[in-house]
Amino acid sequence: MNDRRPVIAGNWKMNGVAASLAELDALVSGLGAQPSETDVVICPPATLIARAAMRAAGSAVRIGGQDCHAEPGGAHTGDISAEMLRDAGAAFVILGHSERRTDHHETDAEIRAKALAARQAGLVAIICIGETLAQREAGDTLPIIAGQIAGSVPADARASDFVLAYEPVWAIGTGKTPTLAEIEAAHGFIRGELERRIGVDARATRLLYGGSVKPTNAAEILALPDVDGALVGGASLKAADFLPIIRAV
Ligand code: PGA
Repeated sequence: MNDRRPVIAGNWKMNGVAASLAELDALVSGLGAQPSETDVVICPPATLIARAAMRAAGSAVRIGGQDCHAEPGGAHTGDISAEMLRDAGAAFVILGHSERRTDHHETDAEIRAKALAARQAGLVAIICIGETLAQREAGDTLPIIAGQIAGSVPADARASDFVLAYEPVWAIGTGKTPTLAEIEAAHGFIRGELERRIGVDARATRLLYGGSVKPTNAAEILALPDVDGALVGGASLKAADFLPIIRAV
C-alpha cells in the first residue's frame, strides 16, 4: 500500500468534435456524485478544452491539454501557452508524448522547458517517456528512459508538480503491452532514477503506465505496486471503455 493518489488520464489525441462531449457527460454521470479517490483526467483536443471544463465542472473529472508552449506568450503562431490552458479550465497537461517527440521532433530539453511553463501556470505536467521497439530490441530500454528522465524532468521538480508516464512507444495503439514483470521493473527503475538524478521525492511521485491499456488488462497493470495509474489513448474515447479502467483502480 502507498498513499499516492491514483491518476487515470485519457488522451483523446486528435479525436473529438463538440458531439464527442456526450462521452464526457457519460463519464461524469457514470462516476456519480461520490468524491473520487482517483484523479480522473480527460485531455481532449484544444478546441474542446473550455467546453469540456464547463461540462465537467463540479464533477470528479479534471481536464488537461495535450501539449503547451514553453514560452508564456508571443509570436508563436498556432501554439498554446500553459496559462491559456489553465485559463480555459485545464488542470493538467500532457508533455513529451511520443507522438509529439516523433511528429514535432520534440527534444528532452524542450519538454523540460514546457514542464517549467506548466508549473508556472499551475498545471500538473504529465511527462511521457518510453523506448521504441528498436531501442528495446537493442537492450537499451533502461538507458533510454534514464536519459529521458534526466533530460525532461526539471532539476528542481517536486512530486506535486508532475506525473511521469512510462509509455513504451511500441505499445501505443498496437494492442501489445510489456509483461507485468517488465512494467514493474521499469517503474521501479524509474523511481530510482527520479531519486538519484533529480532528487525528487520518488516515493511521492505518481508513475503511470501507458500503451494499450484496456478494460481487460487494466486491473492487473494497476495492481502493480509501482504503478499509480494509467495514461489511456484509444480506450478513453468511449465512457463505456474508460469507466471500467477507472473502476479497476
Ligand atoms: P493507447 O495510447 O492507449 O491507444 O495505446 C496510449 C497513449 O498514447 O497515451
